[in-house]
Amino acid sequence: MRDAYIVTSIRTPGCKRNKGAFKDTRPEDLLSFILTEGVEKTKNMEKKDVEDIMIGCSFPEAEQGLNIGRIASQIAGFPVDVTGATVNRFCASGLEAIAQAALRVMAGWSDIVIGGGLESMTYVPMGGNLPRPHPEYTQKLADLYASMGITAENVAHRYNVSRESQDEFAYQSQMKAAEAKSKNLYKEIVPTPAARYVEQEDGTYKKETFLQDFDDGIREGTTLEGLANLNPVFAAGGTVTAGNASQMTDGAAATVIMSEDEVKALGLKPIAKFKSYTTVGCKPDEMGIGPKLAIPKLMKLAAMDLKDVGLFEINEAFASQALYCINELGIDKQNVNIHGGAIALGHPLGCTGAKLCATLLNNMQERGVKYGVESMCIGGGMGAAALFELCE
Ligand SMILES: CC(C)(COP(=O)(O)OP(=O)(O)OC[C@H]1O[C@@H](n2cnc3c(N)ncnc32)[C@H](O)[C@@H]1OP(=O)(O)O)[C@@H](O)C(=O)NCCC(=O)NCCS
Repeated sequence: MRDAYIVTSIRTPGCKRNKGAFKDTRPEDLLSFILTEGVEKTKNMEKKDVEDIMIGCSFPEAEQGLNIGRIASQIAGFPVDVTGATVNRFCASGLEAIAQAALRVMAGWSDIVIGGGLESMTYVPMGGNLPRPHPEYTQKLADLYASMGITAENVAHRYNVSRESQDEFAYQSQMKAAEAKSKNLYKEIVPTPAARYVEQEDGTYKKETFLQDFDDGIREGTTLEGLANLNPVFAAGGTVTAGNASQMTDGAAATVIMSEDEVKALGLKPIAKFKSYTTVGCKPDEMGIGPKLAIPKLMKLAAMDLKDVGLFEINEAFASQALYCINELGIDKQNVNIHGGAIALGHPLGCTGAKLCATLLNNMQERGVKYGVESMCIGGGMGAAALFELCE
């Protein structure tokens, strides 16, 4: 197998569903923008050099529907012979897209592929616009259709993750993010055009564009007392609140992957190698434990030990599940989500896997860490994990 080299990995800011900077920005615009930026930031490479574009999306319908991987790449001006696909593994969709792009290169089937992700949770709500579960199997397999919040409550309840520890974890996420934002450490963010509709004197609305360059869900003023005062949102007497759950978010991300021959031909300095990727299943009603299962499986596959990994991005779908997985794995919290996670920065479902890749690679470069792992839980009862190796 050949090596798959990542030469560019970037993301838009993550902005709050319905209230944030991208609430009036169509998902096609977010994705086509970040794809173009992925090419422009890759020295000596042009759109025509890309063979395929794999895009993760969790609810690929309506404005982000049909085949958004193809539609957005054509909007972005890639030549017609550059193909595009949409990949869905719910919260791991963006990572799955990157893994499939990397596999194409590793197998020798392609030389340059872009993997990325997109989700506008403003335009397409979680669950989709018209969910139509199978009437018999909603009874037989009810857990497959469970609310993600209830699965987080199940993890908290079954594995004794207290409200206090969830709030403390959420507080830390917010504080790390606030610090990283103030120090301008999110180098993977590309300032992104956002639309807004401004009322004119005659009562009509005019579309204007502004540049959004920060994650707008971070709450710098978060306190433990404030978090403790929030009511549970998914279950009476439960522990999961708006403060210790991931935020619903709009965003897009892109990663350019190529063979060693192309890296040399274009005279590029690669960021990292995409080393390995795995997925694992678990009970749907406790889907949050996915990373606890996926990360050891990944380590076994790579014949590595957890202590060889210097940084982790473990998606904070909910504090209960992220904290449970981190504790069970015995990972040093100092090395996890060092600039905050989805509780502060948001979780744009199908984009998240690609977003976390950009973040992890940025952080690995910042800290000079050789091995980094990205992992997340997945609705329906799964976990995914990927290993990246920083290039010298
Ligand atoms: C939990 C959830 C329902 C909350 O939705 P929401 O009400 O839109 O959340 P918001 O972020 O707007 O917060 C609501 C309120 O909670 C309070 N709040 C939120 N975070 C807070 C914090 N860190 N400190 C203090 N108060 C906070 C505020 O009063 C806030 O209102 P405000 O924005 O007007 O100040 C939603 O974020 C959710 O469903 N998250 C999980 C998504 C999911 O399941 N993803 C898939 C995972 S597998």
